[in-house]
Amino acid sequence: MIRWWTAMGLTGLASSFYCIATDNRWFYRHIVMRVSRVFDAETAHVMAVRLAKLGVLPRCNQTDDNILNTKLWGKDFVNPVGLAAGFDKDAVACYQLFDIGFGFIEVGSITPLPQDGNPKPRVFRLLADQGVINRYGFNSCGHADAAGRLKLWKSKRDHYPGKVLGVNLGKNKTSQDTFSDYQKGVLTLGDYVDYIVINVSSPNTPGLRRMQEKEKLMDLLSKLLAVRNELKNKPPLLVKVSPDLSQQEKEDVATVVCSEKAKVDGLIIGNTTLQRPPSLHSIHGSEKGGLSGQPLKELSTQNISEFYQLTKGQVPIIGVGGVSSGQDAYDKILAGASLVQVYTALVYDGPVLIKYIKKDLAQLLRQNGFSSVQEAVGRKHR
Ligand SMILES: Cc1cc2nc3c(=O)[nH]c(=O)nc-3n(C[C@H](O)[C@H](O)[C@H](O)COP(=O)(O)O)c2cc1C
Repeated sequence: MIRWWTAMGLTGLASSFYCIATDNRWFYRHIVMRVSRVFDAETAHVMAVRLAKLGVLPRCNQTDDNILNTKLWGKDFVNPVGLAAGFDKDAVACYQLFDIGFGFIEVGSITPLPQDGNPKPRVFRLLADQGVINRYGFNSCGHADAAGRLKLWKSKRDHYPGKVLGVNLGKNKTSQDTFSDYQKGVLTLGDYVDYIVINVSSPNTPGLRRMQEKEKLMDLLSKLLAVRNELKNKPPLLVKVSPDLSQQEKEDVATVVCSEKAKVDGLIIGNTTLQRPPSLHSIHGSEKGGLSGQPLKELSTQNISEFYQLTKGQVPIIGVGGVSSGQDAYDKILAGASLVQVYTALVYDGPVLIKYIKKDLAQLLRQNGFSSVQEAVGRKHR
């Protein structure tokens, strides 16, 4: 009997090693990520960042398919699939996260001063909907702490050709001067990174989303572009918008970002939503906070389409919201995204997902007669 159990145990162990070594998607989705759910969502998040920092997450050592190599703002990207803001909030694991296979990583949101964010619990898995609701409220280590690590990244930057690092900036909850908070971020962190994101769309910082109003946004972005122009490297400056804007608000944002005064280098579409689709099944569906993942996917792709048309394709778009497959990434590229980002799907599929998104995206591009990502951007509208 003991021998039988030993044999079974060894077989199970060997199969697990085999599945891990071969990045078996089913094994990660149904075993590894299920096991991670013995921890609450925030603990699992903190542990995932620590494991990433230790470099023990699965690596994707394959060279990216040439069809995925792309260029934006004069920068090379080995592939157009990035990690969205909010996973590595304090920029503690950026090098190691590239090993998973991302073409670019966005750290943050980082606030000027350290702050704890909202009381716990503040992150919830919506299993039945393949979504997440979070109300972290910008828990952040602050600029000074992150600056040391980003400076180090900058010094090693040449070892990472084709990999791009962006920083996403937030504001402190109690700060009365929003411009000053973002200005500090641009000045303190801007020269260490490849792009900067002004996040005015988090639903978890009171009043922040009002910065998307036409006059406020025009004023904020024109001043921040001037600040950015003082930097040595002048990294591209992007603005991240909410998926909950009305038609008029979208038109206003498009007018601002296409104007001479406030012509930013890109839009990130978009952040989490406060909407709750009637189709939500999960018990946590009524928690307060921003919803992400599958329930956000169509809304996000629709917004990318609209902004691409409103801006006449003049402002590059990073598409984010519910990407969990090559097809999802492809749909967002056709709708107008030059690059895409992933977050919530990693909670359900684990890091091996990135390898499969890239493989399927390359196949879809070829099948549909495209020879590059750039060629496919916005094709739905032509
Ligand atoms: C737990 C969590 C924390 C997040 N934190 C941030 C953040 O600090 N700053 C930000 O701009 N977006 C943040 N986001 C939003 C994501 O960057 C992304 O815009 C959104 O989740 C949609 O993508 P997804 O459906 O692939 O998750 C967060 C999302 C999640 C799920």
